[in-house]
Amino acid sequence: MKRFLTTTLLASLMAVPALADDLESRAAASREASGKLLKALKAEVEKAVQTGGPLHAVSVCNEKAPQITRQVSLQAGWDVGRTSLKHRNPKNAPDAWEQKVLEDFERRKAAGESLKTMEHYAVVEEQGKEHFRYMKAIPLFGVCVNCHGSKIRPDLSEKIYKLYPDDKARGYNPGDLRGALTVTQPM
Ligand code: HEC
Repeated sequence: MKRFLTTTLLASLMAVPALADDLESRAAASREASGKLLKALKAEVEKAVQTGGPLHAVSVCNEKAPQITRQVSLQAGWDVGRTSLKHRNPKNAPDAWEQKVLEDFERRKAAGESLKTMEHYAVVEEQGKEHFRYMKAIPLFGVCVNCHGSKIRPDLSEKIYKLYPDDKARGYNPGDLRGALTVTQPM
């Protein structure tokens, strides 16, 4: 009886750090996969702006962003994507959990935390299934203002509205929280 108690006690004590390790390694893998997505998208946008200007780059974003997002997800074996409280592509609209985390990111930013390292992860139960979910803040930079700022060139603005009639991703300034990378892994 005593040995049984000791073993179960030990097992339950060991389960806690094991779970924490598992979550930390899942977070590290999510960080890597979402970092890949951001890097690939940034490279694509920068190349397109340089070769054909922002007007051309909008078409590239429109065609390539969903394509690259699918590729990175397939490679990682999980859902990897982008979301925002003010999204351009309605397919990037946040679900209830993402909405809460994005609102929390805005609060954390207002409290003085840097967007550079801002992230959040948790095990979330949805429809009876557990998932590991991870989000990382995306800050807005100078070059992004071309297409997400408050003074978008008229021809560019028109083209964006043609592709995204319900576009909400405007009016941003450098340093704003533009959105977040989001990863969902099955447990
Ligand atoms: C040439 C125009 C252009 C530039 C420059 C640009 N974007 Fe975008 N952005 C778009 C388009 C178009 C979409 C919609 C892509 C899609 O259909 O998935 C988008 C979508 C996004 C999304 C996904 C959420 C949403 O609103 O649908 C994020 C996040 C984002 N952009 C961040 C940035 C950041 C950060 C930068 C600067 C590093 C940037 N963008 C620069 C045109 C641009």
